[in-house]
Amino acid sequence: MYRSHHCGELRSENIGHEVTLAGWVQRTRNMGGMTFVDLRDRYGITQLSFNLEKDEKLCEAARKLGREFVIQVQGVVIERESKNDRLDTGHIEIEVRELKVLNESQTPPFTIEDETDGGEEVRMKYRYLDLRRNPLRKNLELRHKLGFETRKFLSDQGFLEIETPYLIKSTPEGARDFVVPSRMHGGEFYALPQSPQTFKQILMVGGYDRYFQIVRCFRDEDLRADRQPEFTQIDCEMAFVEQEDILNTFESLVRHLFQEVKGIDLPDYQRLTYAEAMRRYGSDKPDIRFDMEFVELTDVAQGKDFVVFDSAEIVVGICAKGAASYTRKQLDQLTDFVKRPQIGAKGLIYCRVNEDGSMKSSVDKFFNEADLQQWKSKFNAEPGDLILVLAGETDKTRKQLNELRLEMGNQLGLRDSKTYAPLWVIDFPLLEWDEDGKRFLAMHHPFTSPKPEHLSLLDSDPGSINANAYDMVINGVELGGGSIRIHDQKLQARMFEILGFTKEEAEKQFGFLMGAFKYGAPPHGGIAFGFDRLAAMFGGTDSIRDYIAFPKNNAGRDLMIDSPSSISADQLEELSLNITQE
Ligand code: AMO
Repeated sequence: MYRSHHCGELRSENIGHEVTLAGWVQRTRNMGGMTFVDLRDRYGITQLSFNLEKDEKLCEAARKLGREFVIQVQGVVIERESKNDRLDTGHIEIEVRELKVLNESQTPPFTIEDETDGGEEVRMKYRYLDLRRNPLRKNLELRHKLGFETRKFLSDQGFLEIETPYLIKSTPEGARDFVVPSRMHGGEFYALPQSPQTFKQILMVGGYDRYFQIVRCFRDEDLRADRQPEFTQIDCEMAFVEQEDILNTFESLVRHLFQEVKGIDLPDYQRLTYAEAMRRYGSDKPDIRFDMEFVELTDVAQGKDFVVFDSAEIVVGICAKGAASYTRKQLDQLTDFVKRPQIGAKGLIYCRVNEDGSMKSSVDKFFNEADLQQWKSKFNAEPGDLILVLAGETDKTRKQLNELRLEMGNQLGLRDSKTYAPLWVIDFPLLEWDEDGKRFLAMHHPFTSPKPEHLSLLDSDPGSINANAYDMVINGVELGGGSIRIHDQKLQARMFEILGFTKEEAEKQFGFLMGAFKYGAPPHGGIAFGFDRLAAMFGGTDSIRDYIAFPKNNAGRDLMIDSPSSISADQLEELSLNITQE
């Protein structure tokens, strides 16, 4: 038996017990006649004590232990002289009788502590050491609990977890595919799934009316804090349902997770149409923990000879409560913020509401007090408020103002990570116009069904059609998205046509799906959640990397195994890949 207890387990009740523990040496301290070793495992830390007078040899051996040595000790639980209330095991220690070094360790390149001195790169290279730290361990435990509760909830609701293949054919979800060359079929490739979309629809045709899968997806796209090239979805599909059934079912799932994992009763979901979300927040994933809604000033702001406004399609602003006290320097910083290339605004106009209700703006030259009072009433602004205004082309300006709104939310402390404001964004447009390719793209994916009442617009004005598509957004994070699907073969074929596929291309890529639709496809729909994002949200951050055991860095590399990497000439040849590598 390697151990009788783990390192987080022993308490005062165990005093006098003989125990065996095993774990890693967190640190050793020599205090004259005594040597103390903190022994760590997944469950906690237990202090070991070695008394020079009682056993000199043993104490000498303890003094030689380096950080991260793996050891096994036998001893007796005794009461600690100086108790540590911050540690679960802080009232006891082990008076060691026997010590065995199970494995030595080189000095680790960073400290294995909650606050480490290791930079991101080195921690990714030595991920196995980083994984020993509490923050990562807690994140992976959280992830496990979320997965477990998801399976429990969905299984109780009659959902079956069914695996779908990883070596498939391209599914168009808007990103590039990762491809895998086939050895047996030289010159041909599998694609790794961007999601199991078509397979879950086929499962509906197969009669499995409630499917889910916690499944890896692969997308070759630009990486950010909330994106990884391989990530995990809670992927779900239901047959014989309408949008309302899906929203209710998955609202309940997320409510269950918040209840079981965080002990939080999630407030009621709000609902916004895509058009409303864009108009009021300039984003299809607004953070509604705080108001600061957009107010349009176009009608009162134009016609005053201020060319920036007069030449704009829209003049729109936000009112930051209590921010009139912002200094000139802070306002300059906000201007710099919106002018950054990532945001791209040309400038920022501001207007303070003074304590006496009068207004002081950065455009006093063009707008007199009466004009500015009109602004004030549009915003319902009060003394002490700060109005911030952008102008330009409608979509761009709204997006820029969204960034400014989020920044002001941060600066004014309105985005508390312990408050949750859930939202459904519904009625997404079916299509978006791609200016470069001069064609329509599916906004969600090509299997999404148009709203039945918009079907008649398919020929005349496809761009104005809305879809039965929805996103679940919490605190400005898109946690999940889905849609009611097309289940009619003819409509699906028409959709591919609108998306610019020739009949032959559509048949080649999706013939299997349209074939299946000819054999009694039930009405169906579904959703997929970003599981890594869900875990990060539960943990209170947006960086999903800390919730994945072995993530890739921003350049898509796994620094531990050093991948991607080149392969041998033999392998290349076997795969019929006649490329030369450096
Ligand atoms: P969608 O593409 O919206 O829908 O993806 C669903 C959810 O997956 C998460 N997500 C990601 N998480 C981490 N890294 C990424 N690169 C990444 N990309 C997406 C997001 C997103 O909301 N087949 C459809 C679902 C459906 O229609 O049922 C789909 O994949 O949280």
